Amino acid sequence: MPARILSGTEIGQQIQAELRQEIETLKQAGVTPGLAAVLVGDNPASHIYVRNKIRACEALGLYSERLTPPASITTGELIAEIEALNRRPEIDAILVQLPLPKQVDAQRVLLAVDPAKDVDGFHPINVGALVANRPALRPCTPAGVMELLRRSGIPLEGQRAVIIGRSDIVGKPLALLLMHAHATVTVCHSRTRDLPGVARTADILVAAMGRAAFVTPEFVRPGATVIDVGINRLEDPAAAERLFARHPERLEEFRRKGSALVGDVHPDVADVAGALTPAPGGVGPLTIAMLMANTVQAARARRGQAVAARARVEAVR
Ligand code: GUN
Repeated sequence: MPARILSGTEIGQQIQAELRQEIETLKQAGVTPGLAAVLVGDNPASHIYVRNKIRACEALGLYSERLTPPASITTGELIAEIEALNRRPEIDAILVQLPLPKQVDAQRVLLAVDPAKDVDGFHPINVGALVANRPALRPCTPAGVMELLRRSGIPLEGQRAVIIGRSDIVGKPLALLLMHAHATVTVCHSRTRDLPGVARTADILVAAMGRAAFVTPEFVRPGATVIDVGINRLEDPAAAERLFARHPERLEEFRRKGSALVGDVHPDVADVAGALTPAPGGVGPLTIAMLMANTVQAARARRGQAVAARARVEAVR
């Protein structure tokens, strides 16, 4: 039986519809949450990601602005720009799109973001709060994966979760979130011995290592839930012929466009998995939805008391 498809597009839309209402209420209380996205240089993928984030803000009625310093910026200059955003009261949320150019010290830059405005959850203060399971801003992609699992009714307690990929952005924080949800978590990486064997122990298998179609059916226990965090552009026709041999509609699309987006999970995994996120259309839309949710959360937390009081006054009127 083919896998149940867990549509991130649909769940992302649900979350955005809920947020739209919340934002409306905040606006009635005089607060428009504001996001500043800092996009350094001209990495094409980063441009697309930031464009999608700004569009999502606009669609929900959030204030947003995009800063585009040149690729030649120094660490000191970038930190100065971030400190200026930290001081602006109407900016609730700051994200610095990664990767940064080589000459920039990304760790120092992320450390400069006010933790209360750190909607990516990358500041060590927020990382520490995550480790300690205390309320704070959580990284968007792992938070999105958790929301997708929760809203799809996939049980976590006592389940074996295996994550392939140990990045600071996805693998590590997701391991902590799954652990806090009482899953038994294993984190694998490029040096893991018998990776397919370890992966096959998973009830929930997360592919987050950034290698196109790396997770083949031999990695997947029949019936397991497979979450594909990867998004890779495929341009080699021979590779596309191999990958999409049993997926004629995707091969056709590749031939038409000359390229295709594929996840870290091989398309044939759909025959083995019990449930599977598509890529694209799986985790990506959840990342955006959680960024919006984090922006609202930051606005509430920063101005929460005043907003709550104003909203109560409005309600009484
Ligand atoms: N680059 C890849 N993923 C992310 C993300 O979640 N946030 C930021 N800021 N940059 C990224």
